[in-house]
Amino acid sequence: MVVADTVEEARHAADLVEVTYEPAPAATTFDLGRSRPPSSGAEEGERPGETARGDMDGALAGAPVAIDITCVAPREHHHAMEPHATIAVWQGERLTLYDKTQWVDNDRKEIAHVFGIPEDHVRVISPYVGGAFGSALRTWPHVAIAALAARRVRRPVRLELRRRELTTSVGFRPHTRQRVALGANTDGTLFSLVQEAVAQTSTYEEYAESTLDPARVTYACPNVRTSYRLVPMHTNTPCPMRAPGIATGTYALELGMDELAAALGMDPLALRLQNLADRDQEQNLPWSSNELEACYRVAAARFGWERRLREPRSTRLGSALIGQGMATAIYAADRAPASASVTLFASGDALVRTAASDMGPGTYTSLAQVAADALGIPVARVRVEIGDTALPPAPVHGGSMTMASVGNAVHAACEAVRAKALALGGDPASRSSARASGPAAGDREPVEVIRGHGLDRLEATATSRPGEEAEKYASWAFGAVFAEVRVDAELGAVRVSRLVGAYDIGRVVNPKIARSQCIGGMVVGIGMALLEEAQWDPRFGRVMNANLAEYLVPVNADALDIDAVFVPSDDRNFNPLGVKGVAEIALCGVAPAIASAVYHTPPASASDSFPSPRSYCWRSERVQVPERVQVP
Ligand code: MOS
Repeated sequence: MVVADTVEEARHAADLVEVTYEPAPAATTFDLGRSRPPSSGAEEGERPGETARGDMDGALAGAPVAIDITCVAPREHHHAMEPHATIAVWQGERLTLYDKTQWVDNDRKEIAHVFGIPEDHVRVISPYVGGAFGSALRTWPHVAIAALAARRVRRPVRLELRRRELTTSVGFRPHTRQRVALGANTDGTLFSLVQEAVAQTSTYEEYAESTLDPARVTYACPNVRTSYRLVPMHTNTPCPMRAPGIATGTYALELGMDELAAALGMDPLALRLQNLADRDQEQNLPWSSNELEACYRVAAARFGWERRLREPRSTRLGSALIGQGMATAIYAADRAPASASVTLFASGDALVRTAASDMGPGTYTSLAQVAADALGIPVARVRVEIGDTALPPAPVHGGSMTMASVGNAVHAACEAVRAKALALGGDPASRSSARASGPAAGDREPVEVIRGHGLDRLEATATSRPGEEAEKYASWAFGAVFAEVRVDAELGAVRVSRLVGAYDIGRVVNPKIARSQCIGGMVVGIGMALLEEAQWDPRFGRVMNANLAEYLVPVNADALDIDAVFVPSDDRNFNPLGVKGVAEIALCGVAPAIASAVYHTPPASASDSFPSPRSYCWRSERVQVPERVQVP
């Protein structure tokens, strides 16, 4: 690192540095011969090398209909609009970091450890994060380097990674090769399922993903075997990227289901319905909630699946071959301990404080809504302060668990404020009469109590943590994604003309931003299916397309007609707010639905009966769940 007064001087000076390397043998290829099981540490993190249920030996041989496919997912990079950047400021032995992070508390812990100083000597401030998708979950080396440089030069130092450095200095979605072998009875009932994944990691760290969770959970199947292997390579360490592991594992599993449907001569949706799981068969636990069947029904109806012609090559519009496909989406619903404080002022304003981050999904807005609902005040009166280690601790802003964790902490803190108001409020008679006159009126609103007692404010801090529900239930978000593609018959160019997703994400706190999350996730899915791929140069162990001109992501012109809706759901078994989390489920299932649609395209007779793409616009409506699924 070169430190200078201006960025230009620093870059110029850095260019003058000459580096020589002593050549040494390097592992720069994805060599399956060097693959090995994950260590016991990964096993403890529920990323086992091997799992099996049922009788796998007899099962595969015994299945009347079987498929066996290989599926390769490329290395992908997060490439948020905002690159990673850190400003480090020392005051004596105390350090303040202004950082891009999804987890200020962990940033503080890691940096305090690196410098051997008490955690309370480090403050991390990160109120706004311009996109991250998992790249800012960890504290990467440049954060420590910025702090080290600032200490050395005794001045604040700002370090920004350039776009190119985002391929070497932060993690990425690992290149993964998978095999899926499915066996079914002739009626389509799944009989055996094998899924094997081999993924890259670095030579100096092990990164293992939950790639095989979907194989073990999505469908009812008596005989299931999974195997996970890692290939250490001379590359930087991979890390979570939007629906880490599960998006990749779902991709292979759903391609397998599509192939199985073709082998059976069965409709892809009918095959899914045939194999709905009435519980989590891996843990043998009931679902805390599961509206997957409703997702299928709603999405199929909105898409018009019943008009799909079963035969591939049967639909054409001008020079375009039209294909339609679908896939299932699942994502684990998690929650972690989180704290928040809530202050309600006599003015009717409220302040919510917690260390959580907002990398774009609308944490500020939805926490304000939760507080406004619970305190009985307008949402515009709630101010939210987040992204600072000086605030009550919050878990990682990842794994789609911010609302289930921090949302419940805010809710609990508001309940505590209400309880304080109730304790002050006195007069049970007036409360019971208020209740009798209408449940909406309820107790006196806390702000009236504050005013009535001539107080300035009421304040409470609360912690929400997972309870016994984790032992009693399996909690997952679910979805169904339907895709229509137009493939140019001469050029083979693929356009995704329509995407329809229906999701069970538990209670939806804010339909507008939740829907926006889903639209965004589906656009990422277009990238996953058709565009995103880091080109790897095995000579130098580097990504060649380390820029946004050559690493392609979908743009507006690639996103034509995208429709995302939520089926009625409210998971109070999982947590008091009833939410399951939305961000990552939105990516799952999109790429395989698109692949399924492409598979359905090769040419024959013409038909123009399909709706043309329309530009995306907001539609706000109540979702009707049809009585039954229409299967052609
Ligand atoms: Mo997400 S990969 O948990 O930011």
